[in-house]
Amino acid sequence: MRRLLVIGIGAGHPDHVTVQAIKAMNQVDVFFVLDKGAAKDDLVRLRRQILDEHVHRPHRVVEAQDPPRDRTPADYQATVEDWHERRAELYERMLLDELDDDGCGAFLVWGDPSLYDSTLRIVERVIARGAVDLEYEVVPGITAVQALTARHRIVLNRVGEPVTITTGRRLDGMPPGQDDVVVMLDGEEAFRAVDGEDVDIWWGAYLGTPDEVLRSGRLADVRDDISRTRTEARERKGWIMDTYLLRRRR
Ligand SMILES: C[S@@+](CC[C@H](N)C(=O)[O-])C[C@H]1O[C@@H](n2cnc3c(N)ncnc32)[C@H](O)[C@@H]1O
Repeated sequence: MRRLLVIGIGAGHPDHVTVQAIKAMNQVDVFFVLDKGAAKDDLVRLRRQILDEHVHRPHRVVEAQDPPRDRTPADYQATVEDWHERRAELYERMLLDELDDDGCGAFLVWGDPSLYDSTLRIVERVIARGAVDLEYEVVPGITAVQALTARHRIVLNRVGEPVTITTGRRLDGMPPGQDDVVVMLDGEEAFRAVDGEDVDIWWGAYLGTPDEVLRSGRLADVRDDISRTRTEARERKGWIMDTYLLRRRR
């Protein structure tokens, strides 16, 4: 039976890689790497650095092109469903063609595989398709949320209180009844739609990397600076990944 490891490698700093991840990577014969659009060069560099530093056994790296995806579809669910199926076909082909039937393969996942990442759903789909006999394990990683809170030296939740994690696409002002909201995958500066008078923000871009930028303060005071900083950084690097916590004052 083929073995597959889905390994979280942290949110951008090479030292986010855990001891458990290093031990897992040293069992792997083939690392599968999918091209990730604009951030590709930086991601490939980080991945190569991690493998060079930590893997001390013969291995191969197999690269493939991620199937193209409509980022602004009319029917979001149907488009994602179709994209997952095309990815499952690709994973299945890679596993069959590149991994011996008693070999160990791995996907290295940005951050942690449980948070806004489709790798586990796709692996389940591959298994359900029935063409590959596969057992798999998940190794957790440091998420962008943890990288954000550590760099700002803040606690994610208030004492005994819930925290909402959502995407920029779903944020339309501060959600009613939710006073602590983490926003990820925000292509459109959704924080601009939030009334900033009684809300604080802790914002971080390229967390853990040499390009890291942090800002915090009352949203109304720092919003324009964050927008400006974000636009400049995005133009300079060609891509941006940012995460922020919004907290309503009481
Ligand atoms: C597809 S999700 C992947 C999340 C990842 N699985 C995790 O555990 O953090 C990508 C989003 O994660 C956030 N992100 C990932 N790495 C980041 C970083 N180094 N700095 C800031 N945000 C980051 C951004 O919100 C980005 O849009």
